[in-house]
Amino acid sequence: MKREIKLVDLKPQYEEIKEELWKEWQKIFDSMHLMLGPNMKAFEKEFAEYSGAQYGIGVDSGTAALFLSLKSMGIEEGDAVIAPSFTFFATIEAIIQTGAHPIMIDIDENDFNISPAKISEYIENNTIFDGNILQDKASGKIIKAIIPVHLYGTPAEMDKIQEIAKRYNLLILEDCAQAHGAEFQGKKIGGLGDAAAFSFYFSKNLSALGEGGIVLTNNEDIAKKSSMLRVHGQPDKYTHEFIGYNSRLDEIQAAVLRLKLKRLDIWNNKRIELAKYYNEVLKELPLKTPKIFEHKKSVFHLYVIRTEKRDELKEYLSKNSIGVGIHYPIPSHLQPALKYLGYKNGSLPTSEKIAKEILTLPMYPHLKKEEIDYIGEKIREFFKL
Ligand SMILES: Cc1ncc(COP(=O)(O)O)c(C=O)c1O
Repeated sequence: MKREIKLVDLKPQYEEIKEELWKEWQKIFDSMHLMLGPNMKAFEKEFAEYSGAQYGIGVDSGTAALFLSLKSMGIEEGDAVIAPSFTFFATIEAIIQTGAHPIMIDIDENDFNISPAKISEYIENNTIFDGNILQDKASGKIIKAIIPVHLYGTPAEMDKIQEIAKRYNLLILEDCAQAHGAEFQGKKIGGLGDAAAFSFYFSKNLSALGEGGIVLTNNEDIAKKSSMLRVHGQPDKYTHEFIGYNSRLDEIQAAVLRLKLKRLDIWNNKRIELAKYYNEVLKELPLKTPKIFEHKKSVFHLYVIRTEKRDELKEYLSKNSIGVGIHYPIPSHLQPALKYLGYKNGSLPTSEKIAKEILTLPMYPHLKKEEIDYIGEKIREFFKL
């Protein structure tokens, strides 16, 4: 029987909250309090509490959350920021938008995240440290921060990254866009650095019906600065302390997020159960399934396998109406927009190899186990097993 399985199907999520949502939306439309209102304020508090951080500042996208966090941390022209190349481009884009210089580091193929060993190796071979300031020899810039990205929902190795940051006096901004509710050594991500940026883009684990984001932090200054930057540098209406932006999270999206936050753990646990089931179904096949770690909890934003026959398998599954994706086919250091930085093919070999082998299979909380059985059958058929 021919059937279709989408890469992501968000309709069932909407169906679950639909009735409550329209009641909340009705209240917003009746009050016409559309911006910086009670839903945004309540959501900021609820999500910060959920993630174990003190302050939350709702913004209009994950990219804005990254950018405003960096600005609030004091990152500017003349600075450099360490980040993985293998991420969604926005991580690197936000660094460049502040005027800072990105230093892109290779990943560990076990978890697809920035490799702490490779950060240390870079620092040892390419920087000068005077006990306080860490200077990059090639660019002459001062390295001020590290952005670990918790890619696909799996936390980066935060204890090792915290150690490096402490040793070299660096700030940490967690890119949590793909990892709402994930845990490292029993602690939620989002409160493990100086600030954290989350995206609520409509396909994320916690998602708006459109765009949204949040900055989390335990630092009062970063919180105050981000909250002013999101609304034209205003502490109060029509007083502008500095040049800011327009990056507000609107009430309509905040109401969606509040309702979905109540269900996030249930939906994340579904994803984890489905990922484990996938690993079982695919275990005898000539491909690599994602690792399940003891010391960290992935929330499987994406379920990503590896095979050298990636392109052929992708085509085969697409032909069979199974939604597949590649996250991401070109690592950031090889993107045309960043040619001027001088990275070449071979600069970051693990990121480059992984980009050629990864394939994202359907994953969302309402995916059914029998659909995973079917995907498994089609993959077995492809390998002629
Ligand atoms: C790792 C990562 N960082 C940043 C972003 C940017 O978030 P947004 O699309 O909400 O701007 C995304 C998502 O799109 C992402 O996956």
